[in-house]
Amino acid sequence: MNDIAKHHWWQKAVFYQIYPRSFADGNGDGIGDFAGMISRLDYLQQLGVDAVWLSPHYPSPYVDCGYDISDYQGVAPEYGRMHDFRQFLDGLHQRGMKLVLDLVLNHTSDQHPWFIESRSNRHNPKRDWYIWKDGKEGQPPTNWYSTFGGSAWEYDKLTSAYYYHYFFKEQPDLNWRNPAVKEAMFNVARFWLDMGVDGFRLDAIGTIFEDENYPPIPDGMSQEELYRLARNSLNPEADEKVLSYWARMYRYQSDQPEVHQLMKELRILLDEYEDRVLIGETDDLAFYGNGNDELHLNFNFPLMRTQRLTAKHVRRNQQERLAALPVRAWPCNTLGNHDSARVYSRYGDGENNSAIARLNLMLLLTLRGTPFLYNGEEIGMSDLIIEDPGRFRDPLSRLYAALDQKVMGSDKKTATLTGAMMGRDRNRTPMQWMDAPNGGFCPADIEPWLPVNSDYHTGVNVNAQEKDPGSLLNFYRALIKLRMQSPTLQTGAYEEIDPGNEEVLVFRRWDGSGSYIVALNFSDALQRAHLPDNPGMNIFCNIPNSVGWETGALPLLPYQGVIFSQERTVD
Ligand code: GLC
Repeated sequence: MNDIAKHHWWQKAVFYQIYPRSFADGNGDGIGDFAGMISRLDYLQQLGVDAVWLSPHYPSPYVDCGYDISDYQGVAPEYGRMHDFRQFLDGLHQRGMKLVLDLVLNHTSDQHPWFIESRSNRHNPKRDWYIWKDGKEGQPPTNWYSTFGGSAWEYDKLTSAYYYHYFFKEQPDLNWRNPAVKEAMFNVARFWLDMGVDGFRLDAIGTIFEDENYPPIPDGMSQEELYRLARNSLNPEADEKVLSYWARMYRYQSDQPEVHQLMKELRILLDEYEDRVLIGETDDLAFYGNGNDELHLNFNFPLMRTQRLTAKHVRRNQQERLAALPVRAWPCNTLGNHDSARVYSRYGDGENNSAIARLNLMLLLTLRGTPFLYNGEEIGMSDLIIEDPGRFRDPLSRLYAALDQKVMGSDKKTATLTGAMMGRDRNRTPMQWMDAPNGGFCPADIEPWLPVNSDYHTGVNVNAQEKDPGSLLNFYRALIKLRMQSPTLQTGAYEEIDPGNEEVLVFRRWDGSGSYIVALNFSDALQRAHLPDNPGMNIFCNIPNSVGWETGALPLLPYQGVIFSQERTVD
């Protein structure tokens, strides 16, 4: 028997991330909003997802695209009003879906009333809500960097002091060692939980605390040198080197031990409500606590941290990750989000992108753990390289363009291209709903907040794909449905199988009620995989024209994936 009933909804669910500014524009002003999201509730239901993670919907000056919040208990006016938010929440609940909000605890906007007060004078009661240090202009308290470029300290002339910011200077870090900050933010969490939201995705959760002794970084590698190293990194080993330098550079500014006590307290708060979820934007397994006393889910980012998904990479990732997971902790997998290149572009080879996208989804939806999708990937949206820097909206696009000129000596055109490729505008462009001007996102005579990718015209749009049984959208729907109908795929055990072939990933998902064997060929050549005897019925594949069994081996076409089942799915 399967023990599916013992599992929580967030273990069985397929999550779908909505980036509100780009999802659907209800009032035709070129910016996504709640009216748009409400009009697409049925679309979400038909896609078959169980839960939505909504990127920040709060009032924000929008320096960091909504991750700089100026009112934690409001709704951005360009997205609608609280009434619209509630309607969206109710609409999801009525259709059996959940809603998880983005909660940014590390920092606020510099336009938040708390910071405005805090910076106003040294004796303001909110002064200690942020991290202030004395210092002379031009001599920051430490040599720490902001991960978004330059010093982590900003000099404020008004009170002749520095404040600390891990991200942009418009995102001052809160001082979490001040109990009043904790109380205020816990009240924010209660506010939304009381309204009925089903949990939070905790933004940049590892950066909440800094080493309180503020030691200098001793290594001597500058951020610009690290950037040069990253730009020149050509292979996975070099990538790992960059990552390890990066971790050293920020070691005093993230993953400090106190954060775990705080997570435990937040978990206690959450557990006062029924069956809610906390999801950490971190891959650090320590955030699971003992498996049941900190966060419910933490992303397996190492899975997506590769230029190409290969059988070898996935095998190693699963071996390491699953072995290290605390008992009772639940895995969580994703291949893309609003901060990373689009799955379709990133892992595609330019020729077989459609087959590869399907293969990758087969992986994501059959691995053990809760899968997260990012809006637009279901129709194969790809990165849009914006050539006009005047259309950049993510300051990181501008930052990388400037760095490329300065550090690499690139000319302006090359630097702009680098900015467009390394920034996050490319993967945040508006959703393509139909083959109409602006992809049907907003009216023809309105300029959308980010340009729409013109490939809406060549079939990359919802409307066309709904009508085409062979479309990527219908493939997503079918596979999500298969997972939804199969308790074994949702919660069964995972066991690696050796197919006698490095290029092919084979694993079994099984429990008392049945077993699936998944065989995925991540290479561009025909491969033979040895499977166990009687693997079951071939019930799902991304490329239909299978070559047929040979004695003892299954031939798999380039990028072909097959799922065999010995389980009866629920009709
Ligand atoms: C997280 C968000 C990212 C944001 C940053 C600062 O990493 O995903 O978009 O820029 O935090 O809030």
